[in-house]
Amino acid sequence: MKPVRPPIDGGTALITGASSGIGRELARRLAPRTRNLVLVARRADRLEELRAELETSNPSLTVHTAACDLADEVATGAMLEWVSEGVGAVDVLVNNAGIGDQSLYDGADWTRVRQVLQVNVVALALLTHRLIPRMVERGRGGVLNLGSGAGHSFIPGAAAYTGAKHFVDGFTETLRLELAEAGVAVTQVCPGPVETEFDQAAGMEGLSGGPPEFLTITAEQCAREAIRGFERGDALVFPGFPYRVIMPLVGFIPRSLQRRTVRSTARSLRDAPQSRERDDR
Ligand SMILES: NC(=O)c1ccc[n+]([C@@H]2O[C@H](COP(=O)([O-])OP(=O)(O)OC[C@H]3O[C@@H](n4cnc5c(N)ncnc54)[C@H](OP(=O)(O)O)[C@@H]3O)[C@@H](O)[C@H]2O)c1
Repeated sequence: MKPVRPPIDGGTALITGASSGIGRELARRLAPRTRNLVLVARRADRLEELRAELETSNPSLTVHTAACDLADEVATGAMLEWVSEGVGAVDVLVNNAGIGDQSLYDGADWTRVRQVLQVNVVALALLTHRLIPRMVERGRGGVLNLGSGAGHSFIPGAAAYTGAKHFVDGFTETLRLELAEAGVAVTQVCPGPVETEFDQAAGMEGLSGGPPEFLTITAEQCAREAIRGFERGDALVFPGFPYRVIMPLVGFIPRSLQRRTVRSTARSLRDAPQSRERDDR
């Protein structure tokens, strides 16, 4: 069967988490090709800066900015109403916004856990639920979801985040099958370590035992490979050559062996409490 392609050219794309990192790079890559871009995040000043940059370099593009806290379901619903009335149908939805946390779950701050679940799971599911009916009605559309390598493994010290990304994996794969005959392309991008503000926002910056350098890629590379896979009709994109080679092999490691390895990491986390400062925006 021919893969379904997302209608990027001349269309309207909505990108969450466009104020930094991978989302900002995705916006820069989509800008020369789309007619309308809707940029969503909390930091309005960052979104305005990006709007000015993108409209200057792409004179036929209109950029709409929506400062919205995706952890707030009411605000998210209101933002979607505004998009529907003020911008119109969205052709391509990019669910990129995401936050992490770094804490053994028994010591986790519930407010933060709830935010992790609201932004990474509830907002992604809500935006998709609201925006895909018109894609199906018109027989064309695209959904690009940012998962993570965490959604294909078990990361001690990040149980809520890992669980959230496992949701993104199961949700996106199932959505893709449901929409296969409806003309809507669905792709999941699962990066490994990417140089962004993510670690700082999650309170992980400076912790010992960070990811190996050879696996780390730039946000620009991540966005480039994400869009390439999306346009090719891929179900799953692991950006960066080493990661693309390693991650499919994880599925072949018996769960019992994975548990043993992860358990020893969890033990060392419990034995070595580390000071952390999270950037609660
Ligand atoms: N960086 C990595 O190593 C890595 C690895 C695997 C997967 N990922 C995934 O990639 C995606 C993008 O992350 P990134 O690395 O680019 O991190 P980032 O630089 O911290 O960007 C996160 C984006 O999400 C937005 N966001 C966070 N909380 C929000 C909220 N409550 N409401 C609205 N927007 C919110 C942020 O904007 P505001 O702060 O302005 O709201 C920002 O634009 C995430 O889904 C992440 O899980 C990242």
